[in-house]
Amino acid sequence: MTPTLNRRSFLGNTTLLGAGLAASSVFAVNLPASTKKVKVGLIGCGGRGNGALADFTAACKILGIEVEVTATGDAFKDKAETAGQKYAVAAERCFGGFDSYHKVIASGCDYVLMATPPAFRPVHFAAAVEAGKHCFIEKPVAVDAAGARSVIATGEKAKAKGLAVVAGTQRRHMADYLRNKALIDAGAIGQIKGGVVQWNGTVPWTKRRNEGESDASYLARNWLNFTEMSGDHIVEQHVHNLDVAIWFLGRLPVTAVGFGGRARRQTGNMFDFFSVDYDFGDDVHIHSQCRQITGAYGRVGELFTGTEGVCYGGGKLKGKDVKVAEFKMDSENGMVQEHVDMIRSVITGKPLNDAKSIAESTLVAIMGRISAYTGEIVRWSDLVENDKSPFYNQLCAPAAIDFEKGDVKAPEEVPPVPGKA
Ligand SMILES: NC(=O)c1ccc[n+]([C@@H]2O[C@H](COP(=O)([O-])OP(=O)(O)OC[C@H]3O[C@@H](n4cnc5c(N)ncnc54)[C@H](O)[C@@H]3O)[C@@H](O)[C@H]2O)c1
Repeated sequence: MTPTLNRRSFLGNTTLLGAGLAASSVFAVNLPASTKKVKVGLIGCGGRGNGALADFTAACKILGIEVEVTATGDAFKDKAETAGQKYAVAAERCFGGFDSYHKVIASGCDYVLMATPPAFRPVHFAAAVEAGKHCFIEKPVAVDAAGARSVIATGEKAKAKGLAVVAGTQRRHMADYLRNKALIDAGAIGQIKGGVVQWNGTVPWTKRRNEGESDASYLARNWLNFTEMSGDHIVEQHVHNLDVAIWFLGRLPVTAVGFGGRARRQTGNMFDFFSVDYDFGDDVHIHSQCRQITGAYGRVGELFTGTEGVCYGGGKLKGKDVKVAEFKMDSENGMVQEHVDMIRSVITGKPLNDAKSIAESTLVAIMGRISAYTGEIVRWSDLVENDKSPFYNQLCAPAAIDFEKGDVKAPEEVPPVPGKA
């Protein structure tokens, strides 16, 4: 049987659609006086963390709300301080260490932005929701199935508490993608029969181990090249395109059969390339390709072929002439719009909750990775239902908790080898 997105996920998307559709109507409300100022804390002060805080601030400006940054936290105190200084955060509220998230969450903020390596997201997200914070969670949200399942459970707790959870899947907040999704739903390309999703690019960066550096520090700095920290690039980066496939199709794959390998990478234990066939049931297959190799052909995007047309992600769509409402966004930058949508959803008392959808997209990427690493077919049910499956509790170690305990041993820097000779 083909797994489908449940009604709640579907409604989540519909709400988002509404946010774009009605940016100047339903949501053009006068903000309650109590919402003239919001307080935010940042966990993970690297490239995206600094970016997310700037985007959050830009979103507040659009909404006419003042922002106070209550605290910043990073594994490395200097990074927390550099991020905090831009917002006049006192040095004693810029926290360093693997337990810094506790201090950020306890700093009096209403919103927590999380942009550490994904391995830490399930634990940080659970702590933030426990403390009653609205959460922005960068993608992906886990590196193993247990982590992703925990994010789904935490998302349910957030829902019960009326907290907003918005994921860093900015395509879902961009007019071009929202319009194509609406056109597809209105039948513009007929039934989607298949497609290809790609992130073929280069290794974003690598870091070498410093003289005498601890395993924990090395992994926190070179996280992008270790499966246990990033989930591998099929999870860390290509999740964006897989997320679009799941969103546009409106359902989840039944199985994944993937290949992959390593030809070039000089550090860490990840693959350079993956090619995965996702079977969505009803004879619909999506081919997923991702590669991080410099000097090779690059393409990032999505293509869906329907019975009556074709759609290129958020780009060209050829098909039937159907009409959908115009999408007017507050910002052309999806990374700003996602924060506008999050804050507005709180103000209007209709908190968005992306926890399940981003956890599902993360799980789909993990399915592909496990299949390529092992050479086995991996079923959706192996990761979410069948606790007898060898993949259900295949955990990545070291885990977030090991970093807090100071008990971290870096994995060997060799990639997995699938099958048997
Ligand atoms: N939405 C997007 O398009 C997009 C783009 C880039 C990155 N991302 C995501 O954002 C996240 C961060 O990526 P980045 O590019 O900013 O990486 P980065 O290496 O620049 O930043 C990560 C930061 O987290 C810190 N850190 C590591 N472990 C920590 C811990 N346990 N507690 C606190 N801080 C910790 C690191 O010291 C570093 O400063 C990743 O999940 C990545 O996939 C999303």
